[in-house]
Amino acid sequence: MKVLITGGAGYIGSVTTRVLLARGHDVEVLDDFSTGHREALPPGIPLHEGSLLDAGFVDRVLAAPPDAVLHFAAFSLVGESAAHPLKYYRNNVGGSVNLLDAVARSGVRRFVFSSSAAVYGEPDEMPITEHAPTRPVNPYGHTKLAIEWALADTAAAVGFPAVALRYFNACGASRELGEDHEPETHLIPRLLRSLVDPGVDFAVFGDDYPTPDGTCIRDYVHVVDLAEAHALALEGDLRPGLSVYNLGTETGASVREVLAAAAAVTGREIAPRIEPRRPGDPARLVAGNARARRDLGWRPRADGLTSILADAWRWHRDHPRGYRG
Ligand code: UFG
Repeated sequence: MKVLITGGAGYIGSVTTRVLLARGHDVEVLDDFSTGHREALPPGIPLHEGSLLDAGFVDRVLAAPPDAVLHFAAFSLVGESAAHPLKYYRNNVGGSVNLLDAVARSGVRRFVFSSSAAVYGEPDEMPITEHAPTRPVNPYGHTKLAIEWALADTAAAVGFPAVALRYFNACGASRELGEDHEPETHLIPRLLRSLVDPGVDFAVFGDDYPTPDGTCIRDYVHVVDLAEAHALALEGDLRPGLSVYNLGTETGASVREVLAAAAAVTGREIAPRIEPRRPGDPARLVAGNARARRDLGWRPRADGLTSILADAWRWHRDHPRGYRG
């Protein structure tokens, strides 16, 4: 299948690009390199360099339509989205509208969108199923939900199948590709960077949550498992209109449990400072994934946290300055 991947130079997009190539798909990447890395692209891959905000550019890319579009390109920092909401609405929603507009006029037969657990906000029931109300608590989550709506309406009007994959906590690495954000806000890369470089600070944000050990619980899912879910969504039978799927493991780990697993994997002693809570962090977010298992045949790995930390640790040791070295 000929597949266009927006944001193919980003963290999850680049891993998915490699997984699709390995499965024999004909892949092209669109990226503006605002947050992605050229080093994350396979040599020689067809590349459309430019921004989704440039509607003329997007139309030209879609003039030779792919069979499917995988749409990863987005800004994804929750804190930044609260400080600069319109930057997020303009880029995430505006860019997606340009893309959907071109897709609606082309022969694209399938669309897979990178959504987020952020669309749920702070749900009352765990695990979180796709039936949970969508009540985002920050602009980043609002933009992801707004794009789901635009996608649902476009897919219904035009009559193509579309999928929104709501990621929980993406982490881990493949052999060549890892997590390199600037600034880095996520737990596992911040922790591992601090072990590689003692000059890098690390702290736990809050140990007074209503959880067994007082630290927040999250559902950490391996980036290669996420990439495989995209391949399954691309290749499977889907009904017209939008289908939404949670991508998580149904297993929660607290920050302290992540630190203990990281100490075991790395052999390092980890005794971080405790800081006050980070504003906006819910105590517990764990995915129900029955729908993705049933409809997509998706099976996230069972040894989740250990392989996530082993793979991420190998990548961070090999790339102490991320893709810069
Ligand atoms: N944490 C620390 N220290 C750090 C970084 C994080 O203690 O240096 C804690 C956080 O407070 C939180 C947990 O580790 O309790 C996980 O934090 P992350 O920043 O790694 O991930 P989040 O759960 O905040 O964010 C994830 C996705 C977002 C998505 C959000 C939805 O990365 O894209 O879930 O709630 F929007």
